[in-house]
Amino acid sequence: MDAEPVVARTRAELDAARDRLGGTVAVVMTMGALHEGHATLMRRARESADHVVATIFLNPLQFGPKEDLAKYPRTFDADLELCTREGVDLVFAPGPGVVYQDGDPGVRVSAGRLGEVLEGHSRPGHFDGVLTVVAKLLHLVRPHRALFGQKDAQQLLLIRRMARDLDFRCEIVAVSTVREPDGLAMSSRNTYLNALDREVALTLPRALQAGLAAAIEGPSAVRRAAREVLVREPLCIVDYLVLVHPETLENVPEWYRGEALLAVAARVGTTRLIDNMPVLVGQANDTALGVGVPSAITAGADTRRPVRDH
Ligand code: PAJ
Repeated sequence: MDAEPVVARTRAELDAARDRLGGTVAVVMTMGALHEGHATLMRRARESADHVVATIFLNPLQFGPKEDLAKYPRTFDADLELCTREGVDLVFAPGPGVVYQDGDPGVRVSAGRLGEVLEGHSRPGHFDGVLTVVAKLLHLVRPHRALFGQKDAQQLLLIRRMARDLDFRCEIVAVSTVREPDGLAMSSRNTYLNALDREVALTLPRALQAGLAAAIEGPSAVRRAAREVLVREPLCIVDYLVLVHPETLENVPEWYRGEALLAVAARVGTTRLIDNMPVLVGQANDTALGVGVPSAITAGADTRRPVRDH
């Protein structure tokens, strides 16, 4: 039987438990409703550090007034079981009053321009809310490294930028998207999908896969191939489909060759879903879903190197 992790609910409990962890510490931050994607992050964390801390905090600051905070699944007992199975040492599960002691914080981390496009365009203020809570949790947990999923590529990029721009002494590690056997990216929000929605939701990974298969022909072929799949499914209401540079998030021009990010957001029924895939434009890509292409982002390497090839 695996030992249950220590559960800390307050700052004092967290400090006491954290001080007892010697060696290196890796953190996996979550909003609960844990699934195999989160479990994979925890497994990678275990491989990379002496101790694993998981945070479970449904952060109100990153939800818009019309978003799903009230109905977001809350499954703490099952979450704790998953943490136990994955050998997590310490779970920090504070209430909002513990994280935001004085109510909504007046001072916040600004995501800047990169936080205003794509997800940020559809969800104003979302990334300021994400970065503010990630900054606070990094200060509270004091980890050596923190693992985040490529599933939320823009979030991952912004957290990397925050750590670099604001000199956080913490390594940010990326983990590839974990998918269901049929290709759907795992997400806590998948529980909102009924049987029909679940089928329609497959349009997202199928569109990305079609784009990936056209990578050798260049950017417009990638976009066209993905869009053709999306338009054939009228129940999939597309918010955006883009092929962008993985660091600037700007649309890549037609001459571009190298690593790009093919990203999609769409509404299926009442559920908003996002998905993305790294694409090597101008090369034949491995289109097997879940395998992914070798990616500077997913490998956690320094992606600042130039990737242009005229
Ligand atoms: P949450 O959606 O719970 O996700 C927690 C972490 O798990 C994130 O790093 C996310 O990218 C990763 N993740 C989710 N689904 C995944 C999948 N299918 N494959 C790989 N990784 C996956 O993202 C958040 O919470 C919040 O914004 C948070 C960072 C905790 C700040 O509140």
